[in-house]
Amino acid sequence: MRILFLGDVVGKVGRIAVHLCLPRLVNKYHVDFVIVNGENATHGRGLNESHYRYLVNAGADCITLGNHWNGSKDLTDYIDGADELVRPLNLIKYSHGQGSVSFDVNGIEVRVTNMLGQAFMNEVVRQPYECMNELLKDCSPCIHIVDFHADSTSEKAIFAYCFDGRVSAVLGTHTHVQTNDARILEGGTGLVTDVGMCGARDGIIGYEKNSVINKMVFGEKGQFAINDNAPMMVNGALMDFDEESYMCTHIELVNIGVEE
Ligand SMILES: [Fe+2]
Ligand SMILES: [Fe+2]
Repeated sequence: MRILFLGDVVGKVGRIAVHLCLPRLVNKYHVDFVIVNGENATHGRGLNESHYRYLVNAGADCITLGNHWNGSKDLTDYIDGADELVRPLNLIKYSHGQGSVSFDVNGIEVRVTNMLGQAFMNEVVRQPYECMNELLKDCSPCIHIVDFHADSTSEKAIFAYCFDGRVSAVLGTHTHVQTNDARILEGGTGLVTDVGMCGARDGIIGYEKNSVINKMVFGEKGQFAINDNAPMMVNGALMDFDEESYMCTHIELVNIGVEE
């Protein structure tokens, strides 16, 4: 089973980058299942229904979220009917949608779980380790991919080591910066502490540099801008899984420029 996971899609330029390159990647690498983190796909914060459908049409079989899970006002209106959408599992006061979803991929079960970390994050959530332990009690063995959305690379590595051999892969998201640490742990769990992002290659984590500097350094009000005409890149991880043990047999980083 070959799975491609793409990092946080940032704004229109990120959506276009995914739309342009995903079919080519799926074809070139014979990918069976595609997971895309869509938490920043709508103007840099959240995922509205139209952009959810756009990413599914572009080839995403599953879309995960992150701390900007509720950045788009229409989420609650469509999430219960959005079969390919996985919101963070450990939210405290939100009962719509699912935080862990099982997919049938050519007769093999692939489960995708989205989890928010706690270190340096504003969202107050249930403890990820307790939450995952509880989930695993009710899960049948399968290929289980966890999108651990968190700021701290060590928190993501700690989580992966805690569940080594019990989940198939832990892919970190949120920082938008790809880490050079793709590896398979002793028990067979694939790990990258951050897969990176899809969107504008230049600028600051996908956002136009001056808007970020003006806000963070000079206290200007407003949201970060996104340069829709910037050169595009796509970051992610490509992984293989054994269909009997469900563990990871190969993991490599994806970091490519996208031409129109
Ligand atoms: Fe993000
Ligand atoms: Fe995030």
